[in-house]
Amino acid sequence: MKKFFYRKQKYSIDPNGVVTKKSFSNIALIKYWGKKKNKIQIPLNSSISYSLVDVYTVTRLIYHLKKRKERNFSVRVFFSGKEKISFIPKILEFFHRISFYCSYLRDFNFVIETENTFPHSSGIASSASSMSALALCIMEIEKKLVSSLKEDFFLKKASFLARLGSGSACRSIYPGLVVWGGHKSIKGSNNLYAIPYPYQVHPIFTKMVDTILVIDEDPKEISSSKGHQLMNYNPYAKERLKCANKNMERLISILKVGDLQDFGELIEHEALSLHAMIMTSHPYFLWMKPNTLNVLYKVWDFRKQSRKNIYFTLDAGANVHLLYPIQEKKFIMKLIYNDLFSYCKKIIESFCI
Ligand code: DP6
Repeated sequence: MKKFFYRKQKYSIDPNGVVTKKSFSNIALIKYWGKKKNKIQIPLNSSISYSLVDVYTVTRLIYHLKKRKERNFSVRVFFSGKEKISFIPKILEFFHRISFYCSYLRDFNFVIETENTFPHSSGIASSASSMSALALCIMEIEKKLVSSLKEDFFLKKASFLARLGSGSACRSIYPGLVVWGGHKSIKGSNNLYAIPYPYQVHPIFTKMVDTILVIDEDPKEISSSKGHQLMNYNPYAKERLKCANKNMERLISILKVGDLQDFGELIEHEALSLHAMIMTSHPYFLWMKPNTLNVLYKVWDFRKQSRKNIYFTLDAGANVHLLYPIQEKKFIMKLIYNDLFSYCKKIIESFCI
């Protein structure tokens, strides 16, 4: 597979240029949690997410051919117009990881200019949208260098590269429902790149909304990358793996028949399982804040009383994603503004398409 993404052509080098790409954030329904030991960015379990089409990163990658050949990568990064030296180590690590597949990266001086549509200090993970936008930009350069490059290969390799930047980023290459990680019941699923969910989906699941309640804007004390490592020593890791695989199996039939209640129960269980893993790791940690719990209890109460289909999922942090079908949006927005707004710092809304 390594060789599949390796290209050893003579490139006709375009000396200077700029490429611009946009990429979505995503919210996982079945969570990627834990990586295989001694492997680079290989997940313990397969995951599936919705791409959030209104929450995205736009990246411009400016390239200039180096005057003299040298081995080092040359890159500067600007975020919302400001130079970010602190972002460089992560980008350099990414370039090192992908250099075997993109040998041309050493031939250019790069400037990365990037912006998010969502507020910077919102606690929304930007690594998925930013790493996937950068991977798409790199592929756009490869397309200029290799004229025969096909669209299917372009997207597969972009996802393959994005994974090496941040695991969840490989799912952001496609809209809709996207799977990453091999699962025996999902044809074409694999650990190296993501694929669009290949089976029939009931229409109800093609028009879902995600309202993100931003509870905490500060950067997480334990990043998801650190959290993944802790899974290597978690006493419940094996059970989690079994459970994630079963949940994926269940989700396949739920997506087909369109059972919203089962969907809701499944994604809430997944979210709480993810948090249970960090709570039982060494060192242990609690991502939820008091207002996260306040929101979860309110959602459960509201659901009991109204019988509306509103369900939550959580990322590796305190913020709450509320998922519901577009038909129920008007009613649910009332709940959000009347009863939940006081617990949040910000609200961000997106269609899951
Ligand atoms: C809880 O993709 O951020 O959001 O591969 O180390 O960059 P790295 O981790 P990352 O982990 C995401 C974890 C998650 C679940 C998910 O998106 O599937």
